[in-house]
Amino acid sequence: MAEKLAMRRRVVLVPAPAQGHITPMMQLARALHLKGFSITVAQTKFNYLNPSTDLSDFQFVTIPETLPESALNNLGPVRFLIKLAKECYVSFKELLGQLLVNEEEIDCVIYDEFMYFVEPAVKEIKLRSAILSTTSASSFDCRFLMCKLYDKDGLAHLKEGGGREEELVPDLHPIRYKDLPTIFFASAECSVESSVELFKNSCYKGTASSVIINTARCLEMSSLERLQEELEIPVYPIGPLHMAVTAPPTSLLEENVSCIEWLNKQRSSSVIYISLGSMTSMETKEVLEMASGLVSSNQNFLWVIRPGSIRGSEMCEEGLFSKMVTLDRGYVVKWAPQKQVLAHSAVGAFWSHCGWNSTLESLGEGVPMICRPFTTDQMGNARYLECVWRVGIQVEGELERGAVERAVKRLMVDEEGIEMRRRALSLKEKLKASVLAAGSSHNSLNDFINTL
Ligand code: UDX
Repeated sequence: MAEKLAMRRRVVLVPAPAQGHITPMMQLARALHLKGFSITVAQTKFNYLNPSTDLSDFQFVTIPETLPESALNNLGPVRFLIKLAKECYVSFKELLGQLLVNEEEIDCVIYDEFMYFVEPAVKEIKLRSAILSTTSASSFDCRFLMCKLYDKDGLAHLKEGGGREEELVPDLHPIRYKDLPTIFFASAECSVESSVELFKNSCYKGTASSVIINTARCLEMSSLERLQEELEIPVYPIGPLHMAVTAPPTSLLEENVSCIEWLNKQRSSSVIYISLGSMTSMETKEVLEMASGLVSSNQNFLWVIRPGSIRGSEMCEEGLFSKMVTLDRGYVVKWAPQKQVLAHSAVGAFWSHCGWNSTLESLGEGVPMICRPFTTDQMGNARYLECVWRVGIQVEGELERGAVERAVKRLMVDEEGIEMRRRALSLKEKLKASVLAAGSSHNSLNDFINTL
């Protein structure tokens, strides 16, 4: 009966314009579409996801704004999102108005936590709304705490070099002060006030009617409970979304599938896959240290080097390419079909920046990780991988070849790595169970749908 009623319903989805946010939103779109909902995706021109034939079941509309094309690169993510919100407050409301004239009713507007300009428009038109959090529950928790700390005593706790970096944050075990997303604050492109403004707008209470979160109870039970208490609105952990549905293709860059052929020729669990997501970049010096460490570890590797992701020298990319290919131990691509790579039996470990999607994708395939976080939620994710789920090794401090070699060997060769792989495989089974019928994430999605 509930499924039948759902046949006529429409949901409008508003992803944030970044690969790591678009992908889970489109996975949610697929999950809701399978439950009988019509889907409208509202995006701005930034990182525009071109509707492919696989997305032809969805309607795509554009939110008008007048920011220059260069705004995303020039402003940096925090100031860009704040500016985008100011630009889109009015135009999004007008867009919703048009949709209501042209289309059937809208049952719910689901927006990325950072697209908070959606909420006032939705409230004014008296529609229902829900937030999709594409980061972990623990990271949501950290942002809450940072806003509270800032209100209490400004920067004393939050500034780098405040002397408390190694201390555990009370109630957020095992997060240390240095694992909080304070790196935002150290960046030249954005002030502390901007970060707090973004965090407060995106995670403070009194906004949407519920929060959907791409995580699972078996991963983050205590963070979810804390979040539920803080938010005072229902929290629905429905992930990992990529395990719940066969996702439509959402890559903004072209995937180089030749690496799968290369993986086909490698021994089982013999390759370390290296990728730092869609935004992170490294200094040339660090890349060279990493390459040297990998070469001396004697392990095979598949490395994603995104164009522009090495700061300092374009030549370095070319130089690395030829060195690795001649060694016949490494394969380098500009962008990989990551989920397919992680599912490949030749892959034994993942060297990652620990973005939340990469973390879930690795856990979902039972692949242990070497964690080298850079910014935002990545430090917290790395901490959970190492200390809570115990399926990862974090490489901290200055990146030098000896440390790289040691970390790779610990995971790929030593008994310690074998143990981690065992734990990762057991977690994979728990995650699989959570998205199957009667699993906690499966039930949570149904509970959410029943509220619509
Ligand atoms: C950003 C933030 O950096 C991250 O911390 C936050 O949790 C989400 O938003 P990003 O850095 O891109 O995301 O990392 P991640 O969340 O891991 O998402 C990257 C996505 O790109 C993954 O879904 C991954 O499968 C995909 N990818 C990456 C590819 O398809 N091919 C590649 O070669 C590399």
